[in-house]
Amino acid sequence: MVSRVIPVEVFDLVIFGGTGDLARRKILPGLYRRFLSGQMTSDSRIIGAARGELSDADFRKMVAESIAEFVPKGRHDPAIIEAFLSRLHYVAIDAKGEGGWDNLKSLMRPDVVRAFYFSVAPSLFGDIAARLNTHGVADAQSRIVVEKPFGRDLASAQALNATLAQQFAESQIYRIDHYLGKETVQNLMAVRFANILFEPLWKSEYIDHVQITVAETVSVEGRGAYYDKSGAMRDMVQNHMMQLLCLIAMEPPYHFDPDAVRDEKLKVIRALDPVRPEDIVRGQYLAGGGQGGYVAHSENPSSKTESYIAMKVNVSNWRWKGTPFYLRTGKRLRARTSEIAITFKEPPHSIFDDAEGWRENVLVIRLQPDEGMNLMVMIKEPGPGGMRLMQVPLDMSFAEALGDEAEDIPDAYERLIMDVIRGNQTLFMRGDEVEAAWAWTDPIINAWEGKGDKPQGYDPGTSGPEDALMLMHRDARRWREIR
Ligand SMILES: NC(=O)c1ccc[n+]([C@@H]2O[C@H](COP(=O)([O-])OP(=O)(O)OC[C@H]3O[C@@H](n4cnc5c(N)ncnc54)[C@H](OP(=O)(O)O)[C@@H]3O)[C@@H](O)[C@H]2O)c1
Repeated sequence: MVSRVIPVEVFDLVIFGGTGDLARRKILPGLYRRFLSGQMTSDSRIIGAARGELSDADFRKMVAESIAEFVPKGRHDPAIIEAFLSRLHYVAIDAKGEGGWDNLKSLMRPDVVRAFYFSVAPSLFGDIAARLNTHGVADAQSRIVVEKPFGRDLASAQALNATLAQQFAESQIYRIDHYLGKETVQNLMAVRFANILFEPLWKSEYIDHVQITVAETVSVEGRGAYYDKSGAMRDMVQNHMMQLLCLIAMEPPYHFDPDAVRDEKLKVIRALDPVRPEDIVRGQYLAGGGQGGYVAHSENPSSKTESYIAMKVNVSNWRWKGTPFYLRTGKRLRARTSEIAITFKEPPHSIFDDAEGWRENVLVIRLQPDEGMNLMVMIKEPGPGGMRLMQVPLDMSFAEALGDEAEDIPDAYERLIMDVIRGNQTLFMRGDEVEAAWAWTDPIINAWEGKGDKPQGYDPGTSGPEDALMLMHRDARRWREIR
């Protein structure tokens, strides 16, 4: 049932930061899986680049260890691992120096796709982009892939866009938001635009509200000092959750084409109302369960950064007027779960007496764990006893539907890297989209920073601060349980 694998063009992919955490955990194991599937062909090559003085053999050993650790055992094929490793090279380069670039240039082949993955700190993006051109490593068709965070406010995002634009055209720049590479996120578009069933109901007339939840159980321990400079709003809402909101709220694009899709997403971001302070709840997890609290983990006793945020967002356009979007995300919550829940309105009139059993229809799109979809519908409670109603799920778990083949579904990074090679930008953020998202986010952050607001404490293992419950209760709604 998993679709046929179509090999991508032959490529040379350079990973700057090829020895870093992201490369070891996600990018390189993901590329191995694409090689195993046949999508990356055996004449393509991957070149790691970082400052460390490694030989090709050292780099291959590091990647072999990454595969052993991060690829499920059932997908380890020694002969294929060997063949994959033979496609790897390594060049020592300091992004800020001139050494190593000519070595890299000599490795690049003519007539194959050239892609450069910037898996390094954003402060190095400009240096790398400039040197790729001054040393003649990149060509006019080359693609560059940049990681988040893309700026920390509108001004820094504009500066970053301007820096990259000096060296590369927008059509060459792939800004990764790995949420867009998730199977279910793309399914959101398929469900909306490939079925007649939902689209006629997809508006405020029939949808009461939308909830988007990204809950994590992990703390920020170990990277608290770094996290403390961003917080949940910058780390999750401005990018990932905003993208999810856009895919739910956007108008049908005229075609599944990169700019058509991104134009529609941009219109949604521009239609977002400023958020009122009373529609935002920020939290910080307290100590508990044998672990320190956020303040200890961030190593900042007076930290005012949020590890949790809940907010009510309005999309001011014809389709969504009156249908709020409630977003929440946080660390150290009860369970690790990401989902979008679309709650429909009640039918205008009930012909049944059983008011108690009555529940609204809810379409739940689960991103993790157990990617899938669930439509809550009303049926008659089985058995005698008259016409009593009950709610049941029409449940579709991808893992169950696909069986063993579910393991062959590419993960988000794999899919996105293959899209880069194919030259398909649909699932990447365009520069104007990122800037529009920051233009909406900046005043919200500035407002709480200006007031010096401190987030509310919440107990670990719960669903967040008490006030977040009130955010929904005062609208006579409630959050779905985090479990
Ligand atoms: N890790 C994640 O899960 C994750 C998730 C989303 C986004 N990101 C983003 O992805 C990027 C990389 O993150 P990471 O976690 O992999 O970082 P990391 O573990 O600190 O790795 C950084 C990599 O960059 C190399 N590097 C550092 N300075 C360099 C320089 N001057 N010239 C050339 N190479 C240099 C390092 O190797 P040397 O020290 O040997 O040079 C290393 O390979 C960051 O922008 C991060 O925000 C990471």
